[in-house]
Amino acid sequence: MSRQTTAINLRMNTMKIFPATRLRGTLQLPGDKSISHRAAMLAAIAVGETRIENFSSAEDCRTTLKCLEQLGVSISQNGTDVVIKGVGKTGLQKPEQPLDCGNSGTTMRLLAGILAGQPFDSVLTGDESLSKRPMGRVIEPLTKMGAKIESENGSLPIRIFGVQKIAGIEYEPPIASAQVKSCILLAGLFADGKTTIIERTTTRDHTERMLQWFGVDLQLVKESISLNSEAILTAQDVKIPSDFSSAAYFIVAAACLEGSDITIRDLGLNPTRTSCLTILQHLNANAQILTLEEKCNEPVGMIRVRGRIQRLLRSTPHLLSGSIIPNIIDEIPILAVLGTQLDVGIEVRDAGELRHKESDRIASIVENLRRMNADIEEFPDGFRVEKSSLKGSVIDSFGDHRIAMACAVAGLLADGETEILNAECVNISFPDFFETLQNVVR
Ligand code: S3P
Repeated sequence: MSRQTTAINLRMNTMKIFPATRLRGTLQLPGDKSISHRAAMLAAIAVGETRIENFSSAEDCRTTLKCLEQLGVSISQNGTDVVIKGVGKTGLQKPEQPLDCGNSGTTMRLLAGILAGQPFDSVLTGDESLSKRPMGRVIEPLTKMGAKIESENGSLPIRIFGVQKIAGIEYEPPIASAQVKSCILLAGLFADGKTTIIERTTTRDHTERMLQWFGVDLQLVKESISLNSEAILTAQDVKIPSDFSSAAYFIVAAACLEGSDITIRDLGLNPTRTSCLTILQHLNANAQILTLEEKCNEPVGMIRVRGRIQRLLRSTPHLLSGSIIPNIIDEIPILAVLGTQLDVGIEVRDAGELRHKESDRIASIVENLRRMNADIEEFPDGFRVEKSSLKGSVIDSFGDHRIAMACAVAGLLADGETEILNAECVNISFPDFFETLQNVVR
């Protein structure tokens, strides 16, 4: 069946997606969201002025900047260039109003780490989605460090009381979470003595890399990460690489559409984030890393993805489970879409954490792909999706940016028109997502 001309239009928060023939072009994507949060927070407590280039345009990162300003940090922004005047480790001020973390789990959990050891009280709030997400995972270890925190049964709002000093701990988080690890490491900067995190399953290591970039001496021994509270952070210029998680939508779409050829420049290629690319390479997709270098302590490079090769359709059964899950945690919705294009589908297990993201991402992707005619089964900790002929449908983002973007790619691969309701939530991580997609869709 011949495909219609592709067009995308956003009207009344509803995005229409039409089938695409292929993707072509060179992409420069926004700065990495995770790295931007960390650069801003460390710059705020560093000594001196930090210039950040290619700061993420995500609403979540703007939220972090606003909270830091409420803590007395002076910040100026010109497009994606941000200048932060560090106040040093003792210079944060008591916020006059609650700190609204909006939709951003990273803002909330990392900031809680910084605030736990401050001499002043603070209150952290968030939107409806963030207020439903579990915060006990950071409250519990911070309390062990001597922080005084009150919450609504482990949910927002939380009140952090001023303390004279907290104490370093050795802590093994019961769940693989970069946010929990980062929260405790940041609290450790303000604690007496040494703080150690034991991490059995690797999660993204941007906090460790950024701490080192700001001059903190981290001890990395096997599965443990330690720092001492004497650590002083010194302002550093930072250039943020483009966000791999934002790139994943384009990478998967290009791999699935015959004749596609996209190049993505200045892309963050931190190995704790790029398993989605490795998975595609194992499926014999034509996805190559063209250049790779280290910038500001992060691997950055250029990739080229061409589609579609026949063996992508004839790969071996694909089970994603165990230690790979934290590496692909934000890519699982788009990998579900990929599964609909593989002869043997994709099964995801051990991913119960997805139920605690901006939406219950297992339920959201299962519901939407079902609406698009996919053969998909839901499990408590994942799903199994079979090769399916997707059909355009009306889908709901459930207010979750990654669901909206994954379903947009599903719409490109489907027959007929797809309507995405509440599509404006892409602003959370990638405000120009639809325009960028429109520019490469042919
Ligand atoms: C993030 C870590 C991940 C990820 C989130 C961003 C971070 O969350 O899902 O989008 O910046 O540290 P968890 O660490 O809670 O799994």
